[in-house]
Amino acid sequence: MAQPVRGRFVVVEGIDGAGTTTQTARLADRLRVDGLALVRATREPSEGPIGSMVRQILTGRIVAPEGRAPGWATMALLFAADRVDHVESTIEPVLAAGGVVLSDRYDASSLAYQSVSSGRGGDDAVEWIRSLNRHAVRPHITIVLDVAPDLAAARRESRGEPAQLYEQNEVQRALALFYRNLAKHIPGDRIVIVDGTGSVETVHDRVYAAYQSAFIPR
Ligand SMILES: Nc1ncnc2c1ncn2[C@@H]1O[C@H](COP(=O)(O)OP(=O)(O)OP(=O)(O)O)[C@@H](O)[C@H]1O
Ligand SMILES: [Mg+2]
Repeated sequence: MAQPVRGRFVVVEGIDGAGTTTQTARLADRLRVDGLALVRATREPSEGPIGSMVRQILTGRIVAPEGRAPGWATMALLFAADRVDHVESTIEPVLAAGGVVLSDRYDASSLAYQSVSSGRGGDDAVEWIRSLNRHAVRPHITIVLDVAPDLAAARRESRGEPAQLYEQNEVQRALALFYRNLAKHIPGDRIVIVDGTGSVETVHDRVYAAYQSAFIPR
């Protein structure tokens, strides 16, 4: 699917604890200071009905009667349904108004998390997840925060919240590898891998430079 004609659509991705929430909020502040009138920071799972349910699954507040989380394919369908709702309710209206949308995660997270948790070696699952999301409007740029799994784990620990679904070390190592090769899985998209180590401001400077590379003509 094509990129939106109007507006700017930016996605921030990475493993759990890479700093996607921190850097999405920081970039939104920066762009507002720059004087951009309509800057909308948003996230997936979204604030919508399906996104809220998905977040409750991730935090273990919804479990099946047998006490297990839904399997990877069910999660892929739920994330894809949430994405349709997120695009329609939030992303497209802001882009149509010529604004900037900054999304903390988007379909690259589905490709990464559901294919890694499928235990199917990847490609077959990736193909299927791509097909589920084939109508999702394409970002102008996806910024991947590259952080070693140990550092991300330390950051998650310092946040002091209980571990969510997918927050085990082996899963996070597989995700880090997937993200480093993300361009291979989403051909045609502009994907920039940014070093996510260092202070929030140091990483922000790199994120801002990546943003500018996509939108500011040289
Ligand atoms: N550059 C940084 N240096 C040190 N700590 C950081 C940095 N960026 C974020 N943090 C801290 O690390 C923790 C994780 O950051 P954040 O919540 O932004 O990660 P995330 O990628 O959104 O994680 P999740 O995927 O679990 O939502 C937070 O406590 C945050 O304040
Ligand atoms: Mg986050």
